[in-house]
Amino acid sequence: MVPTSPPTTPTMRPWAKAIRHIPTEFQQQDLTILSGDIPLGLQGTLYRNGPGRLVRNGQTMGHWFDGDGAILGVKFAAGQAQATYRFVQTTGYQAETKAERLLFNNYGTHPPGSWLQRLRGLKNSANTSVMALDDRLLALWEGGQPHQLDLADLATQGFDDLAGSGGRLSNGNTYSAHYKQDAHTGEIFNFGMQVGYQPGQGLGGQIQLYRSNRAGRIQQQSHFFVRGIPLLHDFVLAGRYMVFCIPPVRVQPLPLVLHRQTFSEAMRWQPERGTEIVIVDRDTLNVVQRITTDPWFQWHFSNGCELADGSIMLEIARYADFATNQFLKEVPTGHAPTIARSGLWQLRIDPQRGKILANSPRLERQCEFPSVAPEQVGQPWQTTYLSLQRQPFEGNELLSTIGRLTSSGDLAIAPMPAQHYAVEPIYAPNPEQPGQGWIITVVYNHPTAQSEVWIFAVDRLADGPIAQLRLPDIIPPGFHGTWKAA
Ligand SMILES: [Fe+2]
Repeated sequence: MVPTSPPTTPTMRPWAKAIRHIPTEFQQQDLTILSGDIPLGLQGTLYRNGPGRLVRNGQTMGHWFDGDGAILGVKFAAGQAQATYRFVQTTGYQAETKAERLLFNNYGTHPPGSWLQRLRGLKNSANTSVMALDDRLLALWEGGQPHQLDLADLATQGFDDLAGSGGRLSNGNTYSAHYKQDAHTGEIFNFGMQVGYQPGQGLGGQIQLYRSNRAGRIQQQSHFFVRGIPLLHDFVLAGRYMVFCIPPVRVQPLPLVLHRQTFSEAMRWQPERGTEIVIVDRDTLNVVQRITTDPWFQWHFSNGCELADGSIMLEIARYADFATNQFLKEVPTGHAPTIARSGLWQLRIDPQRGKILANSPRLERQCEFPSVAPEQVGQPWQTTYLSLQRQPFEGNELLSTIGRLTSSGDLAIAPMPAQHYAVEPIYAPNPEQPGQGWIITVVYNHPTAQSEVWIFAVDRLADGPIAQLRLPDIIPPGFHGTWKAA
């Protein structure tokens, strides 16, 4: 039976139609070119992950983070493009599909029914990001282990424990959606947040650290401990260091363990704790410095690097508090009035002396999903790509367009008509011309009720897309993607 998307209501925003849409999976379909030409040098595949289904049997999931993961693959070759879209066949997705109702707990969702229904456990949604390796694709979700998929047809092949000479993921280990790959060595760095126990400190966050080879196989592990159970979504690679900014959000364990509250509901904003910065040597995976500074919250970083004077520089999409979680909780309902203002900030740290050298805004407008060219991850960079909000920003909106911010402060913004919503920009390097390439995004075009792939030249975002392609169905706006060169 093909599920019908729930109707939208007059109080819902235009983006609700895409967010609440129940998409149809499709295999290797040629995409219609609506305008322009696909560059001949653009050869490879864009993979994107995101919550593909947020409504089941009339029940809306309790948070945007809880939708079932669905992967979009768009393969470019010889000026043509083909797309595939498939749900990750997690055991939770399969069981809920069979039962035609929600069965499991998630970050912000309890299944309907009595309290006893909450004892079934947590669903691995596999919905946050993707890692494209030579021989497989991983669908990542920070509360559990990666799912392995076929690179070509996106068929789910089960869990991947990343087994290598440094061990493997075992039960209880998680693997964050925000790995960082050093483009020069191929090494992949990541972390997983799990609950641990430290004598004298009680229950807290055990941040498991992983260094893997370019095949994704774990070569080395270590961990450090954080007081209380934090929410930690991303980190930066900065030259010789991994840097973590632990926001002052902590889970209240009792209501969670008793299934009275979801993870999202059990989070408390505790600004008096400040933000704890933990600096780790990337070769030994040992902590070399811990600093406590002003409170803020971030989901994402653009990048990090070491400067010539030995200091570390980070760039952060930063919020003053944790209101962003309430906004993200509201998104699946199609009406998200909570305002959570963000901005792009720059932080400089002296890792030897443990001092904050500077902490100041770079871009004071609503932004998210900042990133840099893949070859600059962990290295000095000149240009940041990011999602931007249409101005004036009055709330109840999804991010609408994308931009390019240079080190001199010039901001180029992709022109985006009203009621169009672009997701995170993904950089596809041009192998023939170092420093050049394309930015690819997926746009929900509400006036025509379709999703489109838009391709821009990296240095000419303001000129508009050089090609626009129509996808076979509306793809609900997702979170993160990656580019895999052919
Ligand atoms: Fe993320």
